[in-house]
Amino acid sequence: MTVMKVAVLGNPVLRRTAVPLKKSELLRESTQRFIDDMIETMRDYDGVGLAAPQVSDSRRIVVMEVAGNPRYPDALSVPLTVLINPVITVTGDTKESNWEGCLSVPDMRGLVTRPNQIRVEAMDRKGGALSFEAKGFFATVVQHEADHLDGVVYIDRMDDMSTLSFCREYQRYWLQADDQDSTED
Ligand code: NI
Repeated sequence: MTVMKVAVLGNPVLRRTAVPLKKSELLRESTQRFIDDMIETMRDYDGVGLAAPQVSDSRRIVVMEVAGNPRYPDALSVPLTVLINPVITVTGDTKESNWEGCLSVPDMRGLVTRPNQIRVEAMDRKGGALSFEAKGFFATVVQHEADHLDGVVYIDRMDDMSTLSFCREYQRYWLQADDQDSTED
C-alpha cells in the first residue's frame, strides 16, 4: 500500500465537484487498491477521515476511522467505514458545534455548527447498499468528508471566523474553555 500526498488549501482539486462512481468502476482492481491507499494515507496522517479529492482524485469516495487516535484521545470511536457516492439527509432539528480540523488545512482548528443527526445512503466498497443513521461526532465527520466531494471545506461552514485558530493557540486558549470534541479529517 502507498501513502499518498494530501492536497492543501489552494489546490484547485479541493474546490472541484467530484464525480460519482459506477459499480463496475468501483470493483476494478485499481479502484480497490486506491481505496486501500486512501485508508493507509488516512492512518499515516492520523486523520479520522479522508475524501478522494484530498489525494487529488476527483471521485466520490470517503474513508473514515476513529480508533484510539493519538491526536484525538477523547473522540468516540468510529469503525473503518468506506462510503461511495454518499447522500446525506438531515433527520433531526438539533445542531451541534464542534472544533474541526482538516488535513488539507494543516495545523488549524475552527468551530463549526452542523446538524447532529443524519441518515447516510451510500455504496460500500463492494458495491453493496449502505444505509445508516449517524449522530453527534460521527455525523460531523461524515458531513465534513461529504463536503469535500462538493468542493467545500470546513472553514466555508464557519459562522464566526474569530474561532479559527492554529492548533497551538487552540490548545492554549480554547481547549480548556469548553469540552467539545475536536475532529479532523
Ligand atoms: Ni477535511
